[in-house]
Amino acid sequence: MMKITDDIHYIGVNDHEIDLFEGQYVVENGMAYNSYVIMDDKIAVMDTVDAHFREEWLENLKQTLGGRTPDYLIVQHMEPDHSANIDVFAETYPNALVVASAAAFTMMKQFFGTDYADRRIIAKEGDTLSLGTHTLQFVAAPMVHWPEVIVTYDSHDKVLFSADGFGKFGALDADEDWACEARRYYFGIVGKYGMQVQNLLKKAAALDIQTICPLHGPILTENLEYYVNLYQTWSSYGVESEGVMIAYTSVYGHTREAVELLEKKLTDMGCPKVVVADLAREDMAECVEDAFRYGRLVLATTTYNTDIFPFMREFISDLVERNYQNRTVALIENGSWAPTAAKVMRSRLEACKNITFAETTVQLKSALNDESRSQIETLARELMS
Ligand code: FEO
Repeated sequence: MMKITDDIHYIGVNDHEIDLFEGQYVVENGMAYNSYVIMDDKIAVMDTVDAHFREEWLENLKQTLGGRTPDYLIVQHMEPDHSANIDVFAETYPNALVVASAAAFTMMKQFFGTDYADRRIIAKEGDTLSLGTHTLQFVAAPMVHWPEVIVTYDSHDKVLFSADGFGKFGALDADEDWACEARRYYFGIVGKYGMQVQNLLKKAAALDIQTICPLHGPILTENLEYYVNLYQTWSSYGVESEGVMIAYTSVYGHTREAVELLEKKLTDMGCPKVVVADLAREDMAECVEDAFRYGRLVLATTTYNTDIFPFMREFISDLVERNYQNRTVALIENGSWAPTAAKVMRSRLEACKNITFAETTVQLKSALNDESRSQIETLARELMS
């Protein structure tokens, strides 16, 4: 088993069998469910793993324990990708205490039919637990991304166990860029809760952290400022990269032609990055992360059943429910007899804070013509201004 520090050991697992993480996210490189053991006078286990890896996790734990028995299971988060083996742990190690927030024990009763009333410690904000040399401090992190979440700071090794925070898609044996899959994970799963993440970052800033041990993705040991800065940008709904994202749907290719023309104009005008996404064919979570990554978003779709094309409807609703804000949005609509897509898209974005709509809206009636080409030229200039 991998060692994180002299006393902290990794006992997590890689999942390459999963089809959809959390029932909806495609994870081409699988998923890691991290779990750790702190070996001290007392032994603490940090979270369990997904139900499919019960035996592997128990074996990892057993090997790491080397004949000793754990004193505590610390449950930071009750989502089943981490909590599924609380019951088997409790049966295997009947003398161990379960440590979690009060809200987590309520969920344990719901999931397992018991809240471990005779063998538990309720961890509140600021509470500490001494293991001997290591002292653990619990920090409440509600809605990052469930209400019962706590994160845990080990002041001896200067390690923050950050629950889902700083996690990413992808198994630990996958060789891939951290930010790409961490951003897709963040906006897919935690995006709505920027304010709560900001609160956690403020608390974390008061701690001397040298290592971050999340429940998914790699253990972060170097250049922590890089990861924290990205989390600051993401949770404050700031712009991470200069450029324009164009998200579109097209039934017969005419709307796509308009999008390609806009892409060319923007590129010719020196736009640093133009990302084009066909919402019907690309991974929706990837499209969502790009909408949050760039400061300018162009939405192009057709009028459909007096509404808009279904994939655009889903995309906008994904943005709205994640508190999409602080962006410039431009609209391209297409319709062969009564185009209303721009109006519909605008009204669907009404709930978003601080959205500036471009003055130019492009209208196609079936296909590009001189007038709509000229509108695209004007829009490109506006987006570059
Ligand atoms: Fe990784 Fe929110 O569970």
